[in-house]
Amino acid sequence: SSDKKTWIRQPIIVVLGHVDHGKTTLLDKIRGTAVAKKEPGEITQHVGASVVPASVLNKITEPLKKYFPKLVIEIPGLLFIDTPGHELFSNLRRRGGSVADMAILVVDVVEGFQPQTIEALNILKEKRVPFIVAANKIDRLEGWKAFPDTPFLESVKRQSPRTISILEERIYQLVGKLYEHGFESERFDRVKDFRRTVAIVPISAKTGEGISELLALIAGLAQQFMKKKLVTSEDAARGVVLEVKEEQGLGTTIDVIIYDGVLSKNDLFVVVGKNGPIVTRVRSLLMPRPLQDMRMHEGRFVQVDLVTAATGVKISAPGLEDALAGSPFYVIPSEDRIQEFTRMVQEE
Ligand code: GTP
Ligand code: MG
Repeated sequence: SSDKKTWIRQPIIVVLGHVDHGKTTLLDKIRGTAVAKKEPGEITQHVGASVVPASVLNKITEPLKKYFPKLVIEIPGLLFIDTPGHELFSNLRRRGGSVADMAILVVDVVEGFQPQTIEALNILKEKRVPFIVAANKIDRLEGWKAFPDTPFLESVKRQSPRTISILEERIYQLVGKLYEHGFESERFDRVKDFRRTVAIVPISAKTGEGISELLALIAGLAQQFMKKKLVTSEDAARGVVLEVKEEQGLGTTIDVIIYDGVLSKNDLFVVVGKNGPIVTRVRSLLMPRPLQDMRMHEGRFVQVDLVTAATGVKISAPGLEDALAGSPFYVIPSEDRIQEFTRMVQEE
């Protein structure tokens, strides 16, 4: 109906890159900075994801406001999905890629492109996911003087000409590699058209340098180019199954990233299984228990009655034993539409 409630959801940002290039450290740094800035509990852990709310984005990007007074965060936040860089976890990277609105490709600026950097790039290309490159570990460049939690553009001004030329050389190498794979790229502050050119943001996940620019850029690009895609409503939920897991006392559960709509307890849904579609009902919706609220005997999860996009949630339901990770997840609005939705999941 026309009086349906709609809202703009958090863009889903997947973090990809070669093993040890700093993906998890980057997310930890974003979380840690928020905590240090006295915003405890504002970053919420979801199943398979974490949400950085607009209030925290505003705080972290505060130092940029003197250069960009018009920088206003309009999205409710960013939902980040971390992925492992080890070669064995190609399937997890693909699933992350398939649910992402945007990606951060993390590359160790000293090591440059490595096999899983290229694999990740190919996933982004195939799935047409816009991305920016985080050239990480700039603090390891010869002669780098660290200015913790400072914007890159301020920190770089205080480096020696020699260190700056080493950085430029490294970035030039990344530009060359990206060009080999069909992408125009440039250091972010020299990009003229963000639709055509991949932005490279030099950062240190360890010192925090460049993180404010990285987040401002992601938020800005999402606001400028994908607002329509981010509009969601109270309609039946849609998502992607990230993992299928046995949980003590719950049986087989699925971890799902919901990118559209509202999901409630008892909703009828369909996912793909080894032997065809599985149609079943949500028995319980589970979210990670907040750290400050950990009690030994209560388990790692809390039950909720309802979740809204975008979110990561664990779902317990009968009959999920054969569910396949990577499957689409659709809530079926009414029993007479089971066939239609069963066909939809199989066609994807
Ligand atoms: P996988 O999940 O195994 O693919 O690795 P990852 O990409 O998540 O890397 P992780 O964040 O675990 O970092 C790997 C190592 O690099 C750790 O020892 C980090 O402390 C270190 N590291 C990450 N970022 C930086 C950085 O900006 N500077 C420096 N000096 N070290 C870093
Ligand atoms: Mg990691």
